Amino acid sequence: MTPLPESIARSWQMAALSRDLRGRPLARTVADTPLVLFRDQAGQAAALIDRCPHRNYPLSGGRIIGGGIQCPYHGWRFGPDGACMDVPGCTLDASETRRLAAQTVEVREIHGAVLVRLAPGGSDLPDLGPWAAADHDHFWWSQGVWRGRALDALENVLDPFHTNFIHDGIIRRSTRRIPVRLSVKAGETWIESIIEQPQPDMGWMSRILEPPRDRSRTRLHSPTLVQARWEGPRGLTLCVTVFFTPVTPTRLMPFACFTTPKGRGPGWLKERAIRFFLEKVVAQDRHALARQLDNIERFGAPRFLQGPGDLLGPRVAQLYQGQEIEPAEEGPFDFEL
Ligand code: FES
Ligand SMILES: [Fe+2]
Repeated sequence: MTPLPESIARSWQMAALSRDLRGRPLARTVADTPLVLFRDQAGQAAALIDRCPHRNYPLSGGRIIGGGIQCPYHGWRFGPDGACMDVPGCTLDASETRRLAAQTVEVREIHGAVLVRLAPGGSDLPDLGPWAAADHDHFWWSQGVWRGRALDALENVLDPFHTNFIHDGIIRRSTRRIPVRLSVKAGETWIESIIEQPQPDMGWMSRILEPPRDRSRTRLHSPTLVQARWEGPRGLTLCVTVFFTPVTPTRLMPFACFTTPKGRGPGWLKERAIRFFLEKVVAQDRHALARQLDNIERFGAPRFLQGPGDLLGPRVAQLYQGQEIEPAEEGPFDFEL
């Protein structure tokens, strides 16, 4: 399988939910790189390459002691800056702490997300609008590691035409479609598709959940961050921000943050309702990505065609690879969904 593009290592990738990072080391793989995450004495998140520099034992099997992580093999201990703090049984010369250091990875924590950047040189996080706004309700949803290619997951979430089939009856229907207008906007590092439709989708979930909807827009920020916003006559109804973290070339770990304006019922109730309705949809996409991967592996490599509904075309793959694209405004075009 094609290796992951360098753009992944050079961008901020979500490695964990803040709430999953507590008193124990957390092993995660991001962009084919094994990491260990932990919190130091001040509660700050830290990340090291999950390989003890001494004899290469995995540090993630160790314990957190005095704000550092202790390797289970000989007990060397490393601080959040990687410096070796202790070599049990020996006197550690202060001049040696850097030579014996573990390799660190850049970390930041924002709005319940622990993000890592494996290599320097990439761009910062884009402006994500309401996703962290205090006057909104938020919750995170993650289901661990999925089988599938991150690029295929990006295409899946940006593509409305699969919803009539993979989510037949839940979001839309394969047999009863409604007219929509699709347009595309792009900047150098992002692309979005906008759906304008006069009536709600035909699936039961959409019928129950959706207040009148004017439009939805789904934007891919290079390389792997997607944000979808649904808007009604009174503005935003739902915003979903998804970090599609590539784990290996054939595995990914999606983290989704759901944002709704405060006021329409308590936050916990909205979370329950969204989880209840989306559980099945998420399972269907997860299953589809795994089947797609199986078949790509059966044939040895992907070979894709662009159809008349694939308005974003090869630009999704270009952004995923970290290439800049031409700014554009295209449409609206008439379709039925
Ligand atoms: S391998 Fe980690 S302390 Fe020896
Ligand atoms: Fe889907």
